[in-house]
Amino acid sequence: MITVIGSINMDLVTVTSIDPSMGETVMGESFFTVPGGKGANQAVAAAKLGANVKMIGKVGDDPFGQEYMNYFNDMHINTESIQIEKSVRTGTASITVYNHDNKIIVVPGANHLMTSDVIEAYRDDILASEWVLLQLEIPLSAVEKVLEIAAEGNVGVILNPAPFHHIPSHWFELVTYLTPNEYEAKQLFEAYANDTEATELLKKKLVITKGNEGAAFFKNGELMTIPAVKVKAVDTTGAGDTFNGALAVALDDGLTIEQAITFAIKAAGLSVTKMGAQVGMPTKAEIEKMEVNHHEETRN
Ligand code: RIB
Ligand code: NA
Repeated sequence: MITVIGSINMDLVTVTSIDPSMGETVMGESFFTVPGGKGANQAVAAAKLGANVKMIGKVGDDPFGQEYMNYFNDMHINTESIQIEKSVRTGTASITVYNHDNKIIVVPGANHLMTSDVIEAYRDDILASEWVLLQLEIPLSAVEKVLEIAAEGNVGVILNPAPFHHIPSHWFELVTYLTPNEYEAKQLFEAYANDTEATELLKKKLVITKGNEGAAFFKNGELMTIPAVKVKAVDTTGAGDTFNGALAVALDDGLTIEQAITFAIKAAGLSVTKMGAQVGMPTKAEIEKMEVNHHEETRN
């Protein structure tokens, strides 16, 4: 089982061809609401790839929360450990998509109530997992609690340190992989510039996502980049989350880290071809089809 512990947001997406300045009003292209949140995005990515997924998180008792619970059930994600909080709003992300890129404002709502006590209540779920996926849209004390519990068992942990927060170096020991983007990786290296031990440990755990350049990791101490597959990007929201969900599925399938990164890059690549964080997340069959197309292209 893959267990995702983290945020559940409804994404309120506005697509615009004009990026307004402060105080300015402009006419946008379109608006839609779609399921999002870094935690839920990882869960859906893994579920679409056929994995057995459990989500641990919170929603509010508002229409967004109810909609999300129904949706998780449709996606065959186990919702036993998701609580619906009274008088609290479901997390939201106000997203502006401009020129295929995005600006995001997250209001945590119920996600903020994910405390270390809540995590303690799900100790058995964590210890029963093969892999646990984490991000930083819930309180850091809760993330730390998950890391401590996972370390008591034989549980693999993938932590996507996004959005960026300073994280203590003892976390580097507790994770199996840390998956920052280039910006987050740079911040981490800068924060530990004077700590050789932390830096060396960090390198062993890092998988750095690089958008349309692919992803990189340290192989025998040397940074090795695995290139991305060429796609037509429409909306990059959730690409990193798709990468993480797919990475867990591939590792759970027994692939090596290099093979798993290659697989995750393909999944993330397909995800950006459609508007919406989770729209466009592929099935395994779609990834295989992509491989066939790719081979045909190279043959011609
Ligand atoms: O990583 C993308 C996600 O970040 C969006 O779905 C949004 O909800 C924010 O949490
Ligand atoms: Na998408």
